Amino acid sequence: MFAVQFERFGPPEVLTLGTAPEPRPGPHQVRIAVKAAAVSPVDLALREGSSPTGENLALPHIPGVDAAGVIDEIGDEVTGYAIGDEVFGAVDVARLGGASAQYAVLDFWARKPHGMTWAEAGAAGTGVETATRALDLLGIRDGTTLLVDGAAGGVGSIVVQLAAARGARVIGTARPDSHRFLRELGVEPVDYGRGLPARVRALSATPVDRALDVAGAGSLSELIELTGTADSVVTLADFGASAYGVRLSLGRFGGQPDGVHGLTSAAALADRGRFRVPVREIYPAHQAARAHETAARPPRRGKVVLDLTRTG
Ligand SMILES: NC(=O)c1ccc[n+]([C@@H]2O[C@H](COP(=O)([O-])OP(=O)(O)OC[C@H]3O[C@@H](n4cnc5c(N)ncnc54)[C@H](OP(=O)(O)O)[C@@H]3O)[C@@H](O)[C@H]2O)c1
Repeated sequence: MFAVQFERFGPPEVLTLGTAPEPRPGPHQVRIAVKAAAVSPVDLALREGSSPTGENLALPHIPGVDAAGVIDEIGDEVTGYAIGDEVFGAVDVARLGGASAQYAVLDFWARKPHGMTWAEAGAAGTGVETATRALDLLGIRDGTTLLVDGAAGGVGSIVVQLAAARGARVIGTARPDSHRFLRELGVEPVDYGRGLPARVRALSATPVDRALDVAGAGSLSELIELTGTADSVVTLADFGASAYGVRLSLGRFGGQPDGVHGLTSAAALADRGRFRVPVREIYPAHQAARAHETAARPPRRGKVVLDLTRTG
């Protein structure tokens, strides 16, 4: 099969469109003919050789943890799905990648909603799972005021919509030129960076009930100041969280159990026009290096996606 891959760590130019052995689905897995696969921060870190999770990464490595496509093989013990079904989800956890190829094995998936394009569906898996896990952990429900630090990125732009769908009031941080983007997602925007408590208080007299740190940019003490307690704060990206008494939620790449966490309900919201996956740019597979360059460059709004149906 064809695959976007790298044989050595380095800049985006190490990515090539080459050939690789076809993966086979194990129990509880399906294989898809990939239509679209997202580019995520973990892909960039693994390619650079800077991710601790990638210490023993086997090379060549096929990046990509999220994909959408058409089921062409079904593993043992999978029920309710047939060859030809259109699905989206996330890849085989143990491989830390594998999505940006002709075929990919999914560990968790749901039916692709009609309301999502292939690119949106290919970008949804990990973001939806992560957002759902974090919102559950924080107990977000109707009437909660939630502050999301790093709200415009791939995960943040999903978190804010799923929180709003639960009835929360959402305040989100972003650089000034991404404020309009956040407003379009139903979020009250505020600038990111030091001095956040004063800016949030100027925005709203209502206290912040819960805060989610998506950016990992060192804001935990300010988020605790805003919510009043470390229990009301969760981070997805700050590995120094325990020093603040804040919970770090690590999912698929931290070894905790997952599942089809939130995928089906996000798909239903998409079909009702209440949820979309913001896609910043789509590149054909043979331009994967450009896709990685873009994904690393601010302003990051939503996801960069590879179109695996276009190979040259
Ligand atoms: N724990 C988990 O289960 C889990 C799962 C998925 C991802 N993650 C991690 O979560 C993080 C975010 O992922 P992502 O996909 O959303 O990344 P992303 O698409 O690159 O977005 C990051 C966002 O953070 C913003 N940002 C930059 N500096 C900031 C600052 N000082 N304060 C607040 N926001 C700032 C960026 O804005 P500009 O580009 O405009 O500067 C961008 O919008 C990554 O570290 C990723 O590895 C964790």
